[in-house]
Amino acid sequence: MAVKPIRVALLGCGTVGTEIVRLLREQAGELAARAGAPVELAGVAVRRPHKHADLGDLLTTDAQGLVTRDDVDVVVEVIGGIEPARSLLLEALKAGKSVVTANKALLAEDGAALAEAADASGADLYYEASVAGAIPLLRPLRESLAGDRITRVAGIVNGTTNFILSAMEASGASYADALEEATRLGYAEADPSADVDGYDAASKAAILASLAFHTRVTSADVHCEGIRNVSAADISAAKGLGCVIKLLAICERVPASGDLPESVSARVYPAMIPAAHPLASVDGAFNAVFVEAEAAGQLMFYGQGAGGAPTASAVLGDLVAVARNRVVGGRGPRDSAYASLAVLPMDTVPTRYHVSLDVTDRAGVLSTIAGEFARHGVSLAAVRQTGVGNGGNGTAARLVVVTHAAPEAALAATVRVLSSLDVVLGVESVLRVEDLGRKGLAI
Ligand code: NDP
Ligand code: HSE
Repeated sequence: MAVKPIRVALLGCGTVGTEIVRLLREQAGELAARAGAPVELAGVAVRRPHKHADLGDLLTTDAQGLVTRDDVDVVVEVIGGIEPARSLLLEALKAGKSVVTANKALLAEDGAALAEAADASGADLYYEASVAGAIPLLRPLRESLAGDRITRVAGIVNGTTNFILSAMEASGASYADALEEATRLGYAEADPSADVDGYDAASKAAILASLAFHTRVTSADVHCEGIRNVSAADISAAKGLGCVIKLLAICERVPASGDLPESVSARVYPAMIPAAHPLASVDGAFNAVFVEAEAAGQLMFYGQGAGGAPTASAVLGDLVAVARNRVVGGRGPRDSAYASLAVLPMDTVPTRYHVSLDVTDRAGVLSTIAGEFARHGVSLAAVRQTGVGNGGNGTAARLVVVTHAAPEAALAATVRVLSSLDVVLGVESVLRVEDLGRKGLAI
């Protein structure tokens, strides 16, 4: 007896969707063998059909009609953004269709509603492509590490910003030129400010923290800073310390302390990391994520974090898993949020700062600066005077201060006060310093 095919509605056919169509066509035989049934396109919803003439009768602009069609088993969403993606996926799940999506913005904002809809109808909801492109990361967190206790997930999860920072560091490319090239290569979001302002990485951090700590973390819970203000001066200051600058997503389990219960911290910001750290050599649109678990120790996941084909690979992995579940009947492993840990406010998270200041070059200035750090309870790891700053009249010196770890609020308050001091001519750069568990910093 012929096996009934698994029929797929594809929502969106841009950078990622085009590659999904190509792979579905080119690998139809192998995908059918792996899934246990042919995996066929039932329709493709887009906004501007004239751009996709090669898809012929499969094309529609009626995405809503497509997701509820009786002959559709699985909906693959690569439109992006919150609406209409959310309504379409909720409708699909309600109708019992399984869903595969690459939409981190939606998952991080309203993943709970999607998960509830999937639970209600018994459908699968998979989203491996939403974090770190081609890298199999979410399935290991959800399944392979289900028997362990994850303590930290940290790394580079945005290809566009890593591409920009790598280009600025390697060739002195300008921020604007590097962003234009990343967009041309299909790495950037439809609105690239999602990349450069850190929102895309923050969405991914929310998804990672939710899976790792069995807790619902949304994008609103993630402290988020982007790379817009990272300057050539910051990059050369990092070099001077034996560091490079990377946009990091850091999700940590914070142990209970005193009256405070165990909690989680999720944050995204550019930071200096030691040049010897494995993350420092992750260049271009590649991503790398360290996972630390109590029994497993440290694991590293590395690969292409953006781009049509790498992302389509992750989507098709999910599609085959969903198709298999449909063939045998039943659902695959689901996420859980039983731990419901609180998310720690950024103000209380301990971090380290690198501060570069132009100051008046006269007696007592150093002790005034050091005094402000002390007054805020911030201990200094290193202070260096690096020659004449930009005061222009020979009376200014560049002072570089690296702190030990202190609560974020104390560090930020210190910098605010420093910028208002008469002896401070300008705060040139403020960056966090992270050793990510490796004591590789020489300071
Ligand atoms: P694109 O902007 O290249 O493609 C979006 C597609 O969605 C287009 O085909 C567009 O149609 C279609 N579309 C937009 N609005 C609608 C609508 N209202 N109804 C029907 N179709 C619509 O995006 P990408 O392919 O780059 O990204 C898609 C998703 O994948 C996003 O969620 C993104 O975050 C995620 N992602 C992207 C990665 C990448 O490297 N690009 C990597 C990982 C995840 P039309 O062609 O007619 O304009
Ligand atoms: N814009 C995203 C990035 C795509 O640059 O990482 C992959 O999620």
